[in-house]
Amino acid sequence: MTTQRRIQIFDTTLRDGEQAPGASLKPEQKIVLARQLAKLGVDVIEPGFAISSPGEFQAIQQISRELQETEICGFARCVRADIDAAVAATQDAARRRLHLFISASQIHLDFQLRKTREQVIQDVRNMIGYGKQSVEQIEFSPMDASRADRDFLYQIIEAAIDEGATIINIPDTLGYALPEEFGPLFSDVRRNVRGGDRVIYSTHCHNDLGLAVANSLAAIRHGVTQVEVSVNGVGERAGNCALEELVMAIETRGASLGVETGIRSSEIFETSRMVSRAMHFPISFNKPIVGRNAFQHESGIHQDGLLKNRNTYEIMDPEAMGIPRSMIILGKHSGRHAIKHRVSEYGVKLQDQELDDVYARFKEKADETKIVTDDVLLQLVGESTQIAVE
Ligand code: KIV
Ligand code: ZN
Repeated sequence: MTTQRRIQIFDTTLRDGEQAPGASLKPEQKIVLARQLAKLGVDVIEPGFAISSPGEFQAIQQISRELQETEICGFARCVRADIDAAVAATQDAARRRLHLFISASQIHLDFQLRKTREQVIQDVRNMIGYGKQSVEQIEFSPMDASRADRDFLYQIIEAAIDEGATIINIPDTLGYALPEEFGPLFSDVRRNVRGGDRVIYSTHCHNDLGLAVANSLAAIRHGVTQVEVSVNGVGERAGNCALEELVMAIETRGASLGVETGIRSSEIFETSRMVSRAMHFPISFNKPIVGRNAFQHESGIHQDGLLKNRNTYEIMDPEAMGIPRSMIILGKHSGRHAIKHRVSEYGVKLQDQELDDVYARFKEKADETKIVTDDVLLQLVGESTQIAVE
């Protein structure tokens, strides 16, 4: 039996996810969602940015007190006041870490931080040293790493490791990287940074080019053991790597990747809907895994195949993710077989001639209404046969 490498799922729905425009949450909503994330089985929860408001601080504090089975991550810039707030808010967690970040790309240094490389390295040294006085596990993120100068990236990571960082999280902050360049970045860092082989590697990918999951998988191929994700992929701009997509890619193709997660997939659908409702963030119909259409089939050819064997057109079992059974949608592309099968589920057995009549009426109706509901179909059956259907 081959052993699978365990990938830690670090959930940032309540921090980066909440940075999505319009998605902000009340403290009590954060607490309810954090409970659900724990039920889903995420390994680490980043519940927010403690310095940002008193309500945020209290929510993080309560989550830290309550969820004793899950590691809680405090989030801070390389600034004393942020660190103090993050350390205080997570004080009562059974297991905790402190996540410090600072910009690493030249454009961020020049226009956002307005600091030299030397000053930034000094901030990293001072603030990791400071955080380390209170928290043993320090995660460090060089922001905009995928656009940073490579030598400077190595230097800043080396400084962080020197001062005691235990987890190096390399973010693709702008969703700019391509998988074939992003994956090898991790091998390069491990090889070129002093102390690079004694830390845990993590990744945090944004989805501006729709590559967040692909980039995260590329990072996994290059030894990353933690992936930062958010439910439904919510987050800044086009969002973060979607938890449900990454987890199901691993579950479906994990054997070829040699990895697994500890996520309880049966909680995926419920978690997705809870986040969507709390954030007032609709899920697009064609969103992988959790979108309305993700397991619905309209084409006659597909419906026919599914009725013969589900695996013809489904690579995952929706029920295993808590998604109501896969649905065959009746519309103008549906074939006779699907109609016959659907009415048979209501105990109606159509003779060939009856099926022809129902099918003809059905097609006219489908042209008119696009989707034909079961109620309407049964009405058509009643009109073209003498069969009374309840
Ligand atoms: O996108 C990003 O770079 C971040 C970091 C602060 C981890 O959210
Ligand atoms: Zn981010």
